Amino acid sequence: MSKFYLNKSVLEFYKKMPFNIYSNSYTAIKSLKTNDPLSLYPPLKKIIKNKKNFNIIDLGCGAGWFANLLSYKFKNINVTGVDFNPRAIEFAKNIKNKLNLKTNFVIEDLFEVRSNDKLDLVSSLGVLHHTNDCHKGIEKIIDLSPNYICIGLYHKYGRKPFLSHVKKLKSKFKKLKKDDFEDRMYAEYKKLDARNSDELNKMSWFRDQMLHPKETQHTLAEIAPIFKNKYKIFSTSINRFKKINDLERVIESEKKWYDYALEKLEKKIYFPGFFIIFAVKK
Ligand SMILES: C[S@@+](CC[C@H](N)C(=O)[O-])C[C@H]1O[C@@H](n2cnc3c(N)ncnc32)[C@H](O)[C@@H]1O
Repeated sequence: MSKFYLNKSVLEFYKKMPFNIYSNSYTAIKSLKTNDPLSLYPPLKKIIKNKKNFNIIDLGCGAGWFANLLSYKFKNINVTGVDFNPRAIEFAKNIKNKLNLKTNFVIEDLFEVRSNDKLDLVSSLGVLHHTNDCHKGIEKIIDLSPNYICIGLYHKYGRKPFLSHVKKLKSKFKKLKKDDFEDRMYAEYKKLDARNSDELNKMSWFRDQMLHPKETQHTLAEIAPIFKNKYKIFSTSINRFKKINDLERVIESEKKWYDYALEKLEKKIYFPGFFIIFAVKK
């Protein structure tokens, strides 16, 4: 499977600099401790129950913020982070060791992952849109048969204004030499992303957002049918994690994310255009 769906240029890109890496473990840990997974992703309240042997796999865990954050906040769960980039896994393991957590980290292509354990949750945040086939990635997660699924992807409408902006900038600076081009792009990125983080972390976000060799964008309308028979989508950031009475109504509303994203861009407020869905086994 992996021969067809992983993207080698993506692996090389992340080997140069893993996404969401920090200059040192101190700043990474400080940032991790400020996050609350339940406020970031409210449906997790329903999912993470106080039982023993609660098993989670985070596919494409990168430098491990989510896997380590879950281990840090919930002592009763077993979290495995999987990523095909050895540099990202090394960073994630270092943080885990410093915090004395029991997160398990594995270097592997997500399309090759097998599990003998009964899985409660499989998450994959910002990953599948960087593979050669996002839909096959979702099918792979469904094959692992967890009780719950949490997937984060770039949204077709929510990301459009940001991508148009990047395209214009690339064209404006296209005659510059590579280093100068990247410097100018980075300066432009910093105008949008005013979040306080260390320089290496910001650089890794910039590369991810503006220099990535491969990304696709998706909609709820397009991915919902993949889940249909086996899973029910019960929550999404598209309607800000409100109760879903009728998924079709939520789908009808998703184009509005274009206007929201445009407004953010015009006000120079960072909005990379990402959406989350949670699904439960039927
Ligand atoms: C944008 S980063 C997101 C990392 C992490 N989920 C987070 O939220 O910070 C994408 C990650 O997906 C990983 N990735 C992409 N394709 C993969 C594959 N086929 N198998 C395993 N990891 C993959 C990359 O190495 C990278 O760490």
